Amino acid sequence: MAEEDLDRQAIEDLVESASRAIAGSENLDSLEAERIRYLGRKGELTKSLRSIKSLPAEKRPAVGNAINQAKERLEALIEERKTSLSASFVEEEPYPGDFTLPGRSGFSGGRHILHSVMGEIKEIFAGMGYSIAEGSDVELDYYNFEALNFPPDHPSRDLQDTFYINKDILLRTHTSPVQVRYMEKHKPPVRIIVPGKVYRNESPDPSHSAEFLQMEGLYVDENVSLADLRNDVTYFIRSFFGQDASVRFRPHFFPFTEPSAEVDMSCFSCRGEGCQICQKTGWIEIMGAGMVHPNVFRYAGYDPDAYTGFAFGMGIDRIAMLKYGIDDIRRFLTNDLRFLSQFWSEREMGE
Ligand code: PHE
Repeated sequence: MAEEDLDRQAIEDLVESASRAIAGSENLDSLEAERIRYLGRKGELTKSLRSIKSLPAEKRPAVGNAINQAKERLEALIEERKTSLSASFVEEEPYPGDFTLPGRSGFSGGRHILHSVMGEIKEIFAGMGYSIAEGSDVELDYYNFEALNFPPDHPSRDLQDTFYINKDILLRTHTSPVQVRYMEKHKPPVRIIVPGKVYRNESPDPSHSAEFLQMEGLYVDENVSLADLRNDVTYFIRSFFGQDASVRFRPHFFPFTEPSAEVDMSCFSCRGEGCQICQKTGWIEIMGAGMVHPNVFRYAGYDPDAYTGFAFGMGIDRIAMLKYGIDDIRRFLTNDLRFLSQFWSEREMGE
């Protein structure tokens, strides 16, 4: 075999191994590495081109020619591979996520715990035949105090307790003014609950807030008795806190009811034995109540000899705090999502 043929064989072998390396490179970086290895300035093929000098002069053109052809072939192969690697990146690279996962729904907000508690209480009373009446937060002194039989010098009329807008107009301090407003417009029988915001000029602390929610109840008809009040209040407390709750009435005073009472329920936590929640008394105060005072009927235009009725009023914030073990009434108003979201359903969490 001629020397020239031997060189050609060496070139063929080089082309052969270079082609395999090019076809086998899996990305653009490794392809570039192969190009440098064979065609770079210190590459295998470039080296053999330099070694031509050591060949006899008459053989150089043929071998040089073969090397140049090999170089062109390899350059063409590299271009081809480059194109197919770039194309496959666009077309075949899979979507980096898992498109079989269910979509995430957006956060749409959640119900405030006070709103939920109010809803639950409304539903219990609706089941007993009460309908809902509402008044406004800005109220006349007349409805908030006078028509409710408050004497002119009653301490709660003091600036310290009431936010006055002027001498006659104020922010209502309780939902009771709606009793008189409703009776003015409706004949008995009346059976309503009145949910709403009330305001008191108090320095905020864990159990006091200058604004909070109340729910009033009013039932007026012929022959409504204290026993009816006991029945409805007990039914509510057992529905909301549990059937084993017992209820007691403690004598109290409100200008607009006579007799008046504060209603306690047995402590749901210690069941009457005495704990932190009930301050070791075994009882928890839950609302104020009583039989509608005859003077209130007179102000409202009802005949106190023809009708009797009962009324009750409770603080919704306090009831929510008791039921959910919330330690500070001010949390309801601070809009801290870490607090509020504890009471959201999974749907409200956006899951
Ligand atoms: N309005 C009273 C209060 O805010 C509660 C109450 C309502 C008491 C109805 C008796 C009857 O304290």
